[in-house]
Amino acid sequence: MSRVVESPQTDDRPGGPPQARSGKIPLVDLGAQQAEVDEEVRSGLNQVFATTAFIGGPQVAEFERAYATEIGVAHCVGVANGTDALELALRAVGVTHGDEVILPANTFIATAEAVSRIGAAPVFVDVDPTYLLIDPVEVAASVTERTRAIVPVHLFGQVAPVEQLVSTARSCGAALVEDAAQSQGARRLGSAAGGLGVVAATSFYPGKNLGAAGDAGAVTTDDPEIARLVRLLGAHGSEKKYRHEIVGFNSRLDTVQAVVLLAKLQRLSRWNEMRRLAAIRYHQLLSGIDGVGLPQSMPGNVDVWHLYVIRVPERDRVLSDLQRAGIGAGIHYPEPVHLTEAFASLGIGRGRFPVAEQAAGEILSLPLYPHIGFDDQRFVVDQLRAALTSSSRTG
Ligand SMILES: Cc1ncc(COP(=O)(O)O)c(C=O)c1O
Repeated sequence: MSRVVESPQTDDRPGGPPQARSGKIPLVDLGAQQAEVDEEVRSGLNQVFATTAFIGGPQVAEFERAYATEIGVAHCVGVANGTDALELALRAVGVTHGDEVILPANTFIATAEAVSRIGAAPVFVDVDPTYLLIDPVEVAASVTERTRAIVPVHLFGQVAPVEQLVSTARSCGAALVEDAAQSQGARRLGSAAGGLGVVAATSFYPGKNLGAAGDAGAVTTDDPEIARLVRLLGAHGSEKKYRHEIVGFNSRLDTVQAVVLLAKLQRLSRWNEMRRLAAIRYHQLLSGIDGVGLPQSMPGNVDVWHLYVIRVPERDRVLSDLQRAGIGAGIHYPEPVHLTEAFASLGIGRGRFPVAEQAAGEILSLPLYPHIGFDDQRFVVDQLRAALTSSSRTG
């Protein structure tokens, strides 16, 4: 995913024709982030290799304390990846075989995978048409006596309106389990994503706002018993060596990843601010282009722009024009989860979640990362304008 920017050329002619460039603009470029933390990470890694504390080294507990403080919760438990974090969080609140878990149709498949891996049933609901976040009205309408958890997903760096789910959760005795994989540092009504539900799961996949150098994840909660259970489940059901209370998993945060995450965590709020500025630049560059739907921030949110997702007509052709021009635009996600082959056995046909389904055909993620340059953003927008113009000519 990383790239070296080949000396971007500047085009000082506002609105001038798109320039030919030699460099490519990827969806995510981790190179500049890596350069910022390189020295610190190498010295931290030297220590890990010198002590050989590869599992459970002191850096893991240090990171867990620091991340809990960042989110404003009492406990953080590092695990192997975000999907495990979701599964362990759901298990820790008591979700088991045969239960139902409500989640949005518009999310990365991992949210639903975690539910299915437990043997529980994913109950999808539609999203709102503006922010593409879980629709609280749909959630309330989907509750049954088997509902055990509700999973708002903080998609694209936004925060779902968790406060609108609290009374539904309370009335049916369900746990609010946040999927905070795409929202590290985001806030809603003054509180951090990851600290709004009973428990939250996050992913430190390298391209996330806080990314490791491989797979990693964490569970955050104020509840000491949930934290204990997650830790127990992730360590072969054992708190004391070779004393196994339950059948668990092997899902721990590696010491090496903790070193990388500690270095990056110190820079998270600055990098999120850089993402915000990049989002504002896109807003300015894109405003006034016919046919482009711009992403919006829900009132009460401080979003962290994990992705910059616009809506365009003839999305697939526009995407391939951009890719031909060397722009790594993407789609998050091309199919709502209920329409994936993996979940076909649920038998939920097209038409069931119209908002998510329509959005899947229109959404387009533009390159966005903290260090993206103004010239690169302008090049992306110029190419987009050209693609849309050719679409209206041919259409
Ligand atoms: C919304 C969402 N949930 C869950 C996950 C799963 O995280 P991981 O890839 O670390 O298992 C991801 C990340 O890929 C994600 O974006």
